Amino acid sequence: MSSLESVIELNDGVKIPNFGLGLYLLESGSAAELSLLYALKIGYKLLDTAQFYQNEADVGRAIKKSGVDRKSICVVSKVWDTNHGYEATVKSVKNSLSLFQLDYVDIFLIHSPVSGSNVETYKALLDLKKEGLIKSVGVSNFGIQHLKGLEEAGLPTPSINQIELHPFCKREKLVNYCREKGICVMGYCPIARGKCFNDPDLINIAKEHNKSVAQVMIRWSLDKGFVTIPKSSNTKRIQENMEVFDFKLTEENHRILAGKPDNSVVSRDPTTLPWEG
Ligand SMILES: NC(=O)c1ccc[n+]([C@@H]2O[C@H](COP(=O)([O-])OP(=O)(O)OC[C@H]3O[C@@H](n4cnc5c(N)ncnc54)[C@H](OP(=O)(O)O)[C@@H]3O)[C@@H](O)[C@H]2O)c1
Repeated sequence: MSSLESVIELNDGVKIPNFGLGLYLLESGSAAELSLLYALKIGYKLLDTAQFYQNEADVGRAIKKSGVDRKSICVVSKVWDTNHGYEATVKSVKNSLSLFQLDYVDIFLIHSPVSGSNVETYKALLDLKKEGLIKSVGVSNFGIQHLKGLEEAGLPTPSINQIELHPFCKREKLVNYCREKGICVMGYCPIARGKCFNDPDLINIAKEHNKSVAQVMIRWSLDKGFVTIPKSSNTKRIQENMEVFDFKLTEENHRILAGKPDNSVVSRDPTTLPWEG
């Protein structure tokens, strides 16, 4: 069974922990820093931020203050939609690095395929990787058409596709496509922002394992082989969310969850947008 220390090797050789902390809506400031410091202290090794979240500076400060070896932490950030294009991407990533006060970011993703400048944005990230400012280049919210678009443009396969994934949003076709192409699947909104906590089957499965519904949903992602990044700013829940390595869902649990309606996107869904280059 995987543990908090388990890592997945990406198609470019970079290693990513299979569990980490999501940071969307972690409001910048002293409270954010305390949440981050707490997570790092109890062993979180993967932090998922984005230019859009406006907390890259908090992440950098917490890493420094924590005293944890920088090399043991995997920082993920994302180029926001309005920073697409070659020059704007380079400028925005350099700005992220100065906010982080880090020499490099482990993984940079294109946040979403919203523009006709994905190819230029991607090329900029690849060049920043050559410069050593980024170790790995991936994407987020890319559908099959977008991944094919990058391939047809002759570009290297992204290391990661980060997409919404939980028992009510399984995206099997896209997940299978990523796996066929050697793209690591990273799932966001693993606990569906709490919107499915009243589901009677989830409640029963949680009782069976003496776990919370949130823990069952996070375990579902791990059992599926996804990198998972539940977000919490609350120390009790940051702790609770990592206590998922001492149990596994049964085949019957998985059978029940496989039968759940598969249509609940709780974030936005750019995966269905057309490819515009
Ligand atoms: N690439 C993208 O476009 C994209 C989109 C969305 C998300 N993401 C990434 O994925 C991460 C996770 O997604 P998300 O933050 O949207 O949703 P999520 O992790 O599914 O849910 C987070 C919500 O659940 C609450 N929560 C956390 N642990 C809990 C627990 N054990 N019991 C009850 N409630 C709990 C949190 O509140 P408290 O903080 O108060 O605990 C927060 O309101 C994000 O933070 C971000 O890093 C990426």
